[in-house]
Amino acid sequence: QKLQMFVDEIPMIPTIKGYTTSSEGAYMPANLSIGMYMKLWKFHRDLPESPVFAFGESVDVATVPGPTIEAISGVKTYVEWKNYLPDQHIFTIDRTLDVARPTTGVPTVVHLHGGVTEPASDGHALAWYTKKYREKGENWEKAVYVYHNPVETSTIWYHDHAVGYTRLNLLAGLIGAYKIINPDLENKFSLPKREFDQQLVIMDRSFTKDGRIYINSTGNNPDIHPEWQPEYFGNVIVVNGKAWPYMRVKRRKYRFRIINASNARYFGLSMDDGTNFTQIASDSSYLAAPISIKSILLGASETADVIIDFSMSKSNSIILNNDARYPFPNGDAPGITHSKVMKFMIEEKEADDDTHIPTYFKQIEKLREEEAVVTRNIVMYEYDSTSNLPMRLVLNFANLSDPVSDFPKHGSIELWHVVNLTPDNHPFHIHLVSFQVLRQQKLKNLDNISACALEHKGIEQCNIKSYFDEDPTPPPPNEAGWKNAFKMQPSYVTSILVKFSMTGSKYFPFDPTGKPGYFYHCHILDHEDNVMIRPYILVN
Ligand code: C2O
Ligand code: CU
Repeated sequence: QKLQMFVDEIPMIPTIKGYTTSSEGAYMPANLSIGMYMKLWKFHRDLPESPVFAFGESVDVATVPGPTIEAISGVKTYVEWKNYLPDQHIFTIDRTLDVARPTTGVPTVVHLHGGVTEPASDGHALAWYTKKYREKGENWEKAVYVYHNPVETSTIWYHDHAVGYTRLNLLAGLIGAYKIINPDLENKFSLPKREFDQQLVIMDRSFTKDGRIYINSTGNNPDIHPEWQPEYFGNVIVVNGKAWPYMRVKRRKYRFRIINASNARYFGLSMDDGTNFTQIASDSSYLAAPISIKSILLGASETADVIIDFSMSKSNSIILNNDARYPFPNGDAPGITHSKVMKFMIEEKEADDDTHIPTYFKQIEKLREEEAVVTRNIVMYEYDSTSNLPMRLVLNFANLSDPVSDFPKHGSIELWHVVNLTPDNHPFHIHLVSFQVLRQQKLKNLDNISACALEHKGIEQCNIKSYFDEDPTPPPPNEAGWKNAFKMQPSYVTSILVKFSMTGSKYFPFDPTGKPGYFYHCHILDHEDNVMIRPYILVN
């Protein structure tokens, strides 16, 4: 049957404070314990309950997405992520991939995406563990993770990262928002707070008639990978755990922290009454100044922090639309069900509103190409299913388990050229750090550079600069600040400047000895699992 849109109210996802307050009112670290549970979750009024994996302080209060953790910048949060998942996964595992292999149970490990985290708390893909730590991956180091929360605010998120399971564990629900509040800054700017500051965690899912989350588990090349498919796309859009929800809002300004938590889908978001978004932050950091825009394009894992002023709307309801093709940018236009995300129902009467949007936030340190001490070339390549090699997508033709080849130095700035020889756009994410997009250039003689890359299993010997078009495009203004993920256009080289220390902060409060290390990877989860992911080690 067809599910009706806008019949469920958007759920209130619980918030957990990642800090405590002393009797004098000072902010102090907090110790949290958050479990992962299997439970039933109702995604839509007319859909039976679905088995999901949910985060929560107990199974009763566990939600999809998990609770929003609210941290204070500069105040540490300790979290033990406890695995209470059952022996069996709710999806089939493709054991032909590079995958965690416990004898029983669901392996998980939690990564704080956009967080600045010591290696042992980063959620290394091989630091997975099953229920009650019965079995552990080779890089497991400790149970209680520490988050330093040094970023200058904004929206990051947490999610599973277990090797070969990531796409399935997130699909099952292991996702949650994480806000870092900087009280001085936010009071100074009088931005919308509390109930007027909400996360919107957006993801696409398909369902069977009996309510289970559906994933096609016949591999695209079943002799080689019996279950793996190159991209998961669902035909239902879920926001904060409900399919196409509606949200009642007052006629005033709201702040929304939008997170694209889909496996593979991009979202091109706009409002159907023509109201603009005022974007104030991208990924982990505020922009230099707010930017008013009609539409926002979010690759998988990207975030946008926006203000919407509902007092500007002439109508009483607004539908949030999506126009991003899937796969992006050359796939199909979204169908009826994926072109609508949610609906805002605006109260008739004018509401009090003492917030304002400042004209200016902060100076963003502009990295310069001359400051880069190392240049790295990363090539994205896809073996497609027409070859009799297994279909897989790779970075520099390497697997996850190949020896580490990248050892950036703590404190240094590097120039990375990401050369995308595949037909699709990939959201490229680097753990720990933020980066700035310098420029994008079309690749000339694509066949030649592809042939060279394939022949040498890399691009070091391909004189890549001779393929870069002279006509560079700068990043769009709303993505010109600090990013932790960026959309790598097909047939383009995207050049980024990566700063291997914490952006905009004086702290680097842990010993960067580099064990067990970090990752950079494509955030299309199906690609990440097969096998667009590489480790890197930060050295002193
Ligand atoms: Cu959002 Cu390595 O991940
Ligand atoms: Cu990808």
